[in-house]
Amino acid sequence: MEKDFIHNDLKTQGYTLLQGPKKETLRWTEIIDKDSAAFKQLHQGWNDLPADNFLSDGGHYRFRRYSVFNWNKDGDLVLLPHEPHYQSTYRNNMNGGVYRDFDPFKKETIDSPILKNIIQFTGNKISFSGETTWRIQAHQFRIQANADEAGQPTPEGIHKDGADFILIMVLERHNITGGVNHIYDNNKRLVFGSVLEEPGDAIILDDRMVWHGVSEVYPIDKSKPAYRDVLVLTFHNKMLG
Ligand SMILES: [Fe+2]
Repeated sequence: MEKDFIHNDLKTQGYTLLQGPKKETLRWTEIIDKDSAAFKQLHQGWNDLPADNFLSDGGHYRFRRYSVFNWNKDGDLVLLPHEPHYQSTYRNNMNGGVYRDFDPFKKETIDSPILKNIIQFTGNKISFSGETTWRIQAHQFRIQANADEAGQPTPEGIHKDGADFILIMVLERHNITGGVNHIYDNNKRLVFGSVLEEPGDAIILDDRMVWHGVSEVYPIDKSKPAYRDVLVLTFHNKMLG
């Protein structure tokens, strides 16, 4: 595979940022094409996410869908049979330990050429060791905030997802403040903090090398809808089982 800043960042620090008009992120910017009809169509899929009824803090701030895919380096993307999402309490001591059955992605989202290209791009960038296939757990999240309740993007706090790599991409920040992505080394020392501001701004993490978390979001205008729409893809190495 082609060695570039993404490869170098992931190898040396365990994270990389796909943000801004850097020359190297040109291909990513082309894929997202945030002003295109295709991007609007993809983003539409965040407008009817069901509420997450598994929040043990009694919160009403999270809406989501969940689907699982197989990807291989020839570009084939296969939707796997729907399954509940499971995290151990070790991984998630707040909402883990139970099988959480979320609604799947809608067909329009699964068929989005942008989603396919995002997965293709990321799969290629993380296949350092000749991996030819990845299992991908895909999450659509909307975190909502209002005058009564802050939105918690990561209510479990600093955590790992139990994956090999993670892509976190923002589709929209609507009338919110906060929501800073923080990255920590394996000693849980803060090494990076940044707001994914623009549609398509993204971080790729090596989940084995770093921990992560996102700060609360608050409405700017408390009388208006306020939310943060994010796509999270966790990549699991199938060859390691
Ligand atoms: Fe996470």
